[in-house]
Amino acid sequence: SAYETVLVEKRDKVALIQLNRPKALNSINQQVIEDLNKAVLDANADNGIGAIVLTGSNRAFAAGADIKMMEPLSFSDTYMGGLFNDLENITKAKKPIIAAVNGFALGGGCELAMMCDFIYAGEKAKFGQPEITLGVLPGAGGTQRLTRSVGKSKAMEMCLTGNFIDAQEAKQIGLAAQVFPVDELVDRAVAVGQKIASFSKVAVALNKEAVNAAYETTLQLGLDYEKRLFYASFATKDQKEGMSAFREKRKPQFTDE
Ligand code: HXC
Repeated sequence: SAYETVLVEKRDKVALIQLNRPKALNSINQQVIEDLNKAVLDANADNGIGAIVLTGSNRAFAAGADIKMMEPLSFSDTYMGGLFNDLENITKAKKPIIAAVNGFALGGGCELAMMCDFIYAGEKAKFGQPEITLGVLPGAGGTQRLTRSVGKSKAMEMCLTGNFIDAQEAKQIGLAAQVFPVDELVDRAVAVGQKIASFSKVAVALNKEAVNAAYETTLQLGLDYEKRLFYASFATKDQKEGMSAFREKRKPQFTDE
C-alpha cells in the first residue's frame, strides 16, 4: 500500500478505504489523519471513482483518538496545534463517503463515521462517545453531529454516560441507515456505492451538498438553497440525458457534464 495506516482498493467505480492500524484498534493519530485525507483526496480526484466506502476491521472501525498519544499533551499543544482539525478535511470531498462500521466506533471513531455521508453497521458494531471516562469530551463532532443526528436526549445520554449502543439501536435512532451481517457489510456498502457511482457525478454531488445544507441552516434558507441547486442542475448535460432517456425508455449515459 502507498500508505502506512490505510489500505486502498479500487473496486470498479468505488474506492474502498480501510483503516489499518490493527495493534491499536485503528485508533487515530496524525499518521492516520494524513493517510486518510490523502486516500480520500485521491479518490475524490479520480474520474473513475463515483463513491467511497470507509471501513475498518471486523473488531474495530476505530476505537477513537490515540489515547497514548494524547495523554501528555497540554492545552496549548492541542489549541495551538489544532489537534484533530485536519480530520474534518474528509468532509470536503464532493463524492459521497459511506462508513461501513464493524466492531467498535468509539470517540473519534464514532465521530469519523458521522463525518461520512451515511453509516451502514455490521451486526456486531458498537458506537459510543466514551470521552467522559477519560476526563475529556468529544472533540470532532460527538456533541454536535450526534445531537443533530439522533436528538438531544440520546446524544446527551451517550456523552454523559459513555455507554456504547449496538447496531440495532444505532439504526433505531437513525445513526445507522441499515444493519447487515458482519461478513456481508463491506460488500453491501460497496454495492450501494456502485449504484450511486452509476448516476451523474454532478447530480450526486448536488444531492450531497443540498442534504448537508440542512445541517447548517434554517428551514426556509435551506429550501431556498435547495431550489438554487435544483435550478442549477438544469444547466447540466446530465439533466437533459436523464430526462430524454426516461422519455425514450432507455438507460441514461451520464457524462458528468
Ligand atoms: C490507543 C488503544 C485505543 C485508543 C484501544 N487501544 N483503543 N490505544 N488509543 N483509543 C489499544 C489498547 O491499548 C491495546 O493495546 C489494544 O488497542 C487492544 O485494546 P484492548 O483494550 O486490549 O481490547 P479490548 O479489551 O477488546 O477493549 C476494546 C475497547 C478498549 C473497549 C475498544 O480498547 C477501549 O475502551 N478503548 C478506548 C476507547 C476510547 O475511550 N475511545 C475514546 C478515545 S478519546 P495494548 O498495546 O495496550 O495491549 C477520543 C477523543 C476524540 O476519541 C477527539 C477527536 C478525534
